[in-house]
Amino acid sequence: MPRIAYVNGRYVPHNHAQVGIEDRGYQFADGIYDVVPIVKGTFIDEDWHWDRLERGLEELRISQPVSRKALSMIARRIAKKNMIHNGIVYVQVTRGEAPRNHKFPTTPVAPAMVVTGRHLQMPDDLSQPDMIDVITGPDERWARPDIKSISLLPNVLAKQAAAEAGAYESWLINDQGEITEGSSANAWIVRRDPDSGRVIIQTHQTDQAILKGIVRTAIVALAEQHQWAIEEKPFSVKDLMAADEAFQSSSGNMIRPVRSVDGRTIGSGETGPVVQEILNAFAHHVNAQID
Ligand code: PDD
Repeated sequence: MPRIAYVNGRYVPHNHAQVGIEDRGYQFADGIYDVVPIVKGTFIDEDWHWDRLERGLEELRISQPVSRKALSMIARRIAKKNMIHNGIVYVQVTRGEAPRNHKFPTTPVAPAMVVTGRHLQMPDDLSQPDMIDVITGPDERWARPDIKSISLLPNVLAKQAAAEAGAYESWLINDQGEITEGSSANAWIVRRDPDSGRVIIQTHQTDQAILKGIVRTAIVALAEQHQWAIEEKPFSVKDLMAADEAFQSSSGNMIRPVRSVDGRTIGSGETGPVVQEILNAFAHHVNAQID
């Protein structure tokens, strides 16, 4: 069955899908994207993804190409036409096609929208994912990673560095020696407060330095229900190395426990009890949406 893509109002075979060479996404990375996970045929936390996409468009002053209702319908059609049971839908919106000039086009152009779908392998039981190895590297991105921009060169280079080191992901370190997030995921540790002995789940706060991940949002909401103590503040590489457990979250891979960082084992090197509790609650959160 051929893959089908949506390009500016048309459903076309993936290998014939085209945008113009003066699309501002192609020339300036002048656009944004989002990735919505599909589990057992169901879109997970869909509205949170569209909220983020709309916010990104507003931040960049790109007009919304279609209404949210239409976008949701197009995304569903793509999932259906590509028969995606487990996978993702990718949505990209750029400022459109215009003669190359850094400033916004003076005559209005329609934003360009592409939607594609992809199958992904997912474990049958979302609460039992494989562990991953992580390396660290400098956060060389622009100052607004909270906008899900298609300008991903530093992320690409960081991910490649991980692959070349035999690891799965790079966690990024800012100038203060703190972890912001991963090249394509939010980064978390589990530690014990030295004074109270309380278990703390820690991740960088949602300011302009990180992407406010949707899986992250779901975990924060679950923490409230389960009365887990979450601290939203940066942790250092030293904190990471001393952590009892670590994990990352993203729509492509959901929650993945971390076995090692820069070759050093984190905690016991197995999925720890706190991460397992988060995994169980998150699997329940996903399964509750599946019809
Ligand atoms: N990446 N941080 C970065 C830099 C990301 O690229 C992503 C997601 C996340 C997690 O966000 P969410 O939970 O909404 O997926 C955090 C996607 C999956 C990608 O670029 O393919």
